[in-house]
Amino acid sequence: MRYPSLESTVKQSTEFTVRRMQPEDRDTAVRLTQAEGWPHRREDWDFHCLLGQGWIASTADGAMVGTILWWSYGSAAGAAGLLVVDRRYRGNGIGRRLIEAIIDEAGPRTVQSVATRSGIRVLGALGFRKIGMVQQWQGVPSAIIIEEPTDLILRTADQTSLPSLCELDERAFGAKRFELLASILTQNDGVLAEKDGQLVGFGLIRPAGRGMVIGPVVASDESIAKTIVSRLLTIDASFTRIDIPANANGLAEYLQQSGLILVDQAPVLKLGEGMSSGQSVRSFAMASQSLG
Ligand SMILES: CC(C)(COP(=O)(O)OP(=O)(O)OC[C@H]1O[C@@H](n2cnc3c(N)ncnc32)[C@H](O)[C@@H]1OP(=O)(O)O)[C@@H](O)C(=O)NCCC(=O)NCCS
Repeated sequence: MRYPSLESTVKQSTEFTVRRMQPEDRDTAVRLTQAEGWPHRREDWDFHCLLGQGWIASTADGAMVGTILWWSYGSAAGAAGLLVVDRRYRGNGIGRRLIEAIIDEAGPRTVQSVATRSGIRVLGALGFRKIGMVQQWQGVPSAIIIEEPTDLILRTADQTSLPSLCELDERAFGAKRFELLASILTQNDGVLAEKDGQLVGFGLIRPAGRGMVIGPVVASDESIAKTIVSRLLTIDASFTRIDIPANANGLAEYLQQSGLILVDQAPVLKLGEGMSSGQSVRSFAMASQSLG
């Protein structure tokens, strides 16, 4: 699908221009997401911008009133998120134009996005369709139950683990995300699960938002995912967030028993037919709702 020049000014009831996001736009971007009650700090915006392409909308007098980011995972896949329009300027086609900018740039890639109640209308109108639901769990874990089956060996993930961890993630997510996993693992902790000498799961944890974020978590079954999550919760037992598939009932029950609370559910959408995930390995936690 092709659209008119991205730098053109679209006239509706408000004039606005869509252009690439620059590092100096990030402080305003933080204010826009914080005005929505989203937890992103400046460091989280920097992390998301590190590997992503950002677009912003600004009014004729230069006020920045909207953002969107997207991430390319190779030539066939991508993810989009951090779409927000200043509430005083909504209903003017700004959200739509920002999404069109990233659809245009993503070209033939299949693009995944998690939608809010207001986002689903505009994403749906542009061809995104629902493929599942994600649950947002968070809180301070108060009763971490250590799950450690005897047939599993848990190890600390390090840089040497990256190729095999990336291969497992690709089977679960449907696209290669080497740079993303490397950027999380470089400065943070991760756990690998092995069975009979084979990698059967992994999970990463990093500081983000109000505390720690667990994700991605990939495993060949839910009990392995629970084992990995239980180990990650013990690494830093402060405020923790994890976004899991809504049909991971066993993991959800485990999180509830550990003291986390289900605070929200949102649809996961996809534009395009690619990124089919494997049957033998599943994703049990997103890196973030934006990154997939
Ligand atoms: C979602 C959001 C970005 C839309 O921005 P916007 O600039 O108001 O959207 P647009 O003006 O381009 O509207 C696009 C379409 O969605 C519809 N729409 C927008 N907001 C809507 C709402 N709250 N309820 C129902 N429909 C809505 C518009 O009617 C329009 O439909 P049309 O193209 O058929 O006329 C904005 O509401 C927002 O920032 N919400 C808070 C953050 C958020 O939820 N982000 C979305 C993450 S997926």
